[in-house]
Amino acid sequence: MTTARLRLTPGDVVGPVRRRTFGSFVEHLGRCVYTGIHEPGHPSADADGFRADVLALVRELGVSTVRYPGGNFVSGYRWEDGVGPVAARPRRLDLAWHCTEPNTVGVDEFMRWAAAAEVEPMMAVNLGTRGVQEAIDLLEYCSVPGGTARSDQRRANGAADPYHVPVWCLGNELDGPWQLGHKTATEYGRLAAETARAMRMVDPDLTLVACGSSGSGMPTFGAWERTVLTEAYDEVDLVSAHAYYCEEDGDLGSFLASAVDMDRVVAAVTATADAVRAERRATKRIHLSFDEWNVWYIHAQASKPPTGDDWPVAPPLLEDHYTVADSVVVGNLLVSLLRNTDRVHAACQAQLVNVLAPIMTEPGGRAWRQTTFHPFALTSRYASGQVLRGTIDVPTYPTSRFGDVPLVDAVATHDEERAELVVLVVNRSTDASTRFEADLRAFRAARLVEALTLSDPDPHRQAQPDDDGATAPRPNGTAAVVDGRLEVDLPPVSWSILRVALAGQGA
Ligand code: AHR
Repeated sequence: MTTARLRLTPGDVVGPVRRRTFGSFVEHLGRCVYTGIHEPGHPSADADGFRADVLALVRELGVSTVRYPGGNFVSGYRWEDGVGPVAARPRRLDLAWHCTEPNTVGVDEFMRWAAAAEVEPMMAVNLGTRGVQEAIDLLEYCSVPGGTARSDQRRANGAADPYHVPVWCLGNELDGPWQLGHKTATEYGRLAAETARAMRMVDPDLTLVACGSSGSGMPTFGAWERTVLTEAYDEVDLVSAHAYYCEEDGDLGSFLASAVDMDRVVAAVTATADAVRAERRATKRIHLSFDEWNVWYIHAQASKPPTGDDWPVAPPLLEDHYTVADSVVVGNLLVSLLRNTDRVHAACQAQLVNVLAPIMTEPGGRAWRQTTFHPFALTSRYASGQVLRGTIDVPTYPTSRFGDVPLVDAVATHDEERAELVVLVVNRSTDASTRFEADLRAFRAARLVEALTLSDPDPHRQAQPDDDGATAPRPNGTAAVVDGRLEVDLPPVSWSILRVALAGQGA
């Protein structure tokens, strides 16, 4: 059996585990909002029409932050349509997804849902069809305590206190020709800078995110970031990155290496941001908001919006049914986000419910966990303290998409208060188990607390609504801590979480 060896020392600290790494995304898209988080007729619905069964799963998932209301949707959105008496709200064409938007849920409902879900809201403003004025109107509506037209409108709509929205996205994917209001990098950079400047006049403490590229495959990738940041460097804090992966043409080996690409995206975007920093002789650094990432079978039928005269309300769209292999990749993408915690200051899995989602719902019926739920929930629950990058000694294997890549990938976190070290590890082999050994003597590793492994003899097995536990991680009986060394056998196509108690720190 091949052996992978991880060396970890206290000097391997990359930075803190950021709660905002565990963000998610709710877009007015398909059934994410309507019959997803919101279904007034559902037996579990609360007074606002929010499904309590979904809220419970969102809390179990450990989501920290939720981006809203899009995505492509936001680039044609008029936020004013979604406030005030529901019966008086207009129905609109949603051009992004060729649907009808009833506006039953808007800013106030979302904020109440976020409070119930115990998540931090992250808002996006429309810089596609709208501009500076509408962005500051929305900010005034959300953040000003009262005494102005927009803040008093909010108060009249039932929210006496302002909403706490610390992070704002300045539009969405405006590099993409599919985006309403698609712009050149210079046009967008100027608009982002002007919008940011105005928003900071309302609240100087906001964290503002400029749109980076919608994907590293875009022909303008790199050049877009460079121009946008040249225009907006002083005004913004973060630049966004988006990445979606899927298994193509049965090439499981490449798919399992998706996190290699995510590492490269982080390296490329931060290098570009740092080059602009050097050119401008700036002192501040721009970090990343990886605010859309996931597995997405983008060419599948489920991703095709309606066409022609068909403008339905909340049709099933982008309802990918995930496999065990998909969940291993999701777990590995979280490993990458943690490993890059020095530069990735926020991240959002896209999306939360029904749309490319860890949580699925049946209208009027069950809410259930996809395979991808588990690595997110466990990483969010147990990764804490400081991230340790470590050095891994492991053979590589060839892939057609990413070249030679390591067979095993891992990252660790060290929480002094909990006296716990957590190792997250992925075996990318499609057919063989790999022995994994981590030398933890520098941390005085005392005993194994828990070892859970997500794998299945059929890596393409999917969770089903009536047995969503069948594909959940299972205890890995091969794991042990011996003389400060952690050892475990990793089955092929697997993701594992290993929790180790440390001596002399309350173990
Ligand atoms: O998450 C689905 C879509 O992917 C979003 O609306 C868009 O921003 C991206 O292209």
